[in-house]
Amino acid sequence: FTAQLDASDIEKGTYPHYMLKEIEEQPFVIRKIIQQYQDEDGNVTIDPSIVSEFNQADRLYIVAAGTSYHAGLVGKQYFEKLAQIPTEVHLASEFVYNIPLLSKKPLFIFISQSGETADSRAALVEVKKLGYKSVTITNVPDSTLSREADYTLLLHAGPEIAVASTKAYTAQIAVLAIVADVLRKSKGIEKDIDLAHELAIVANAMEEICDSKDEFETIASDYLSFARNAFFIGRTLDYAVCLEGALKLKEISYIQAEGFAGGELKHGPIALIEDGTPVIALATQENVNLNIRGNVKEVVARDAYSCIISMEGLEMSGDRFILPAVHELLTPLISVVPLQYISYYAALHRGCDVDKPRNLAKSVTVE
Ligand code: G6P
Repeated sequence: FTAQLDASDIEKGTYPHYMLKEIEEQPFVIRKIIQQYQDEDGNVTIDPSIVSEFNQADRLYIVAAGTSYHAGLVGKQYFEKLAQIPTEVHLASEFVYNIPLLSKKPLFIFISQSGETADSRAALVEVKKLGYKSVTITNVPDSTLSREADYTLLLHAGPEIAVASTKAYTAQIAVLAIVADVLRKSKGIEKDIDLAHELAIVANAMEEICDSKDEFETIASDYLSFARNAFFIGRTLDYAVCLEGALKLKEISYIQAEGFAGGELKHGPIALIEDGTPVIALATQENVNLNIRGNVKEVVARDAYSCIISMEGLEMSGDRFILPAVHELLTPLISVVPLQYISYYAALHRGCDVDKPRNLAKSVTVE
């Protein structure tokens, strides 16, 4: 199988919306990324000069906005868990006005689908003024952030047209996983993971999930057609995905949506739960599976309307959807897909302009 994306990808084809097309391109994008980052032995690899730059750093600073920031939150987990490099994630719009205390040898990673976001560009200008090195992870090879950073890693996701980002998010996470895994190997850190193989499993799982889209349409209509607000809860990696799920829903359906860490509910957010409040929970992480289910019980006891999306091997009776099993670090790549679909169908049911939501732009080139 050969994944191919070319100029014709900017056509909608038979899809009613770019967003739907881009959600369903995700398995192909993951395969394309494997292909682009694989060496002749089938192992993932990146330019050795980038590896050496990372290996000189004592701390990584990821800087990004919106969905790219959410991918950065997942990336932090990869750099720390696979490559054992301390990593911070910063909002580009905050960074310039509140530069964090930097380590002795920082390396900056700019994540940006477009490579043109003004907030991220301003942060890069600041980083360059301070004399530090930077790597841009972007979908657009000749973009400003790509030209101005020292190094570039490409997403190979093909053009993303819908304002709400979908395939760029999963592509960013896949590339971050590859970089972290290459660094792990370069440092001789042992871990039983063949990333190219695990990503191939992810691509197949994504396809299976796309085949279940009718189920997500039903969830959207059951839970969100008339909702005023909605909550997404999860723990650890699931929490990062919940932030992205909530952003997707608010961007295109205009439902007020928030992502919360399950354990944090009791410290405030649970006050918002009313009779029928939709709460979508992700349960893909073994070490917190029982904890998140405890959190769901807490909201159900306050009459929330709950929907649990779990993963094979961790499922329990009453779960609404069970994702195919993938490596526990790579779950964000698949657990986000139902959330993308749910947002898409919620927006559609509510008569919203899915591809061009009000007040938003694909690329925000003003600070
Ligand atoms: C805009 C878009 C978001 C995107 C963000 C960052 O706000 O509407 O979808 O996540 O910019 O964009 P970038 O191109 O830097 O990833």
